[in-house]
Amino acid sequence: MSRIYKFLDDRLNLSPLLKEIADHQVPDHANPLKTPTALIYCFGGICLFILLLQILTGVFLMLYYVPSPDNAYAGVNYIQNELAFGGLVRGIHRVGASAAVVMVFLHMMRVVLTGSYKNPRELNWIVGIVLLLTVMGFCFTGYLLPWDQKAYWATTVGVNMVESIPLVGNFLAAALRGGSEVGMLTLVRFYVVHVMFLPALLVIFLAAHFFMVRRQGISRPL
Ligand code: HEM
Repeated sequence: MSRIYKFLDDRLNLSPLLKEIADHQVPDHANPLKTPTALIYCFGGICLFILLLQILTGVFLMLYYVPSPDNAYAGVNYIQNELAFGGLVRGIHRVGASAAVVMVFLHMMRVVLTGSYKNPRELNWIVGIVLLLTVMGFCFTGYLLPWDQKAYWATTVGVNMVESIPLVGNFLAAALRGGSEVGMLTLVRFYVVHVMFLPALLVIFLAAHFFMVRRQGISRPL
């Protein structure tokens, strides 16, 4: 391992970069090892951990899931009941989705309680709102994918709610459904948004979020 690292370091001069990351000092008020109440400053990191777990389990689920009305339910059934560790991986992905929403809200509450959304971190707050919407988008689109009765009707109700938005509602609902009813096109669209569009958005906005956290440092204690 160290020989591979030396090979890469000789050519890419990685050491200063890694040193910069590893030597970064976490201030005492945000370090749970020094201040127990600083645990609330770990909520953002816990969000990241859950999201990484979601990506890992999601990639495994993709190997067996087929986004078509004929195969989606059977595929999920196979993953759940026949595939080795399939139920476990799917379980982690499902519980992880709820845990991500809960943790993102707790992280937001910490940011509000410590006033960290104020100048100079307004931009990072706005990026955070996009991240929140992205996480909720993952939940909304993922819920349809098992293609069972609950998924079908929950999505029908959800898209009808979108339809009631003034001015753009009809257009948005038609774009989501791909027709007048939830059907094959809806399933394909939700799948593509779930596995391509939203992950791309997540990566871009997480990079911006962490860049700003590092540039600005953690906000000072109250
Ligand atoms: C996808 C979910 C998110 C992840 C993975 C994430 C991750 C993080 C991490 C690791 C930090 C460093 C400090 C900490 O952990 O508390 C942080 C800080 C911050 N986050 Fe998030 N975040 C997410 C969503 C949000 C949301 C929804 C908001 C608000 C709308 C937000 C606003 C902020 C702000 C303003 C800071 C700077 C706080 C400070 O300097 O004290 N984040 N985020």
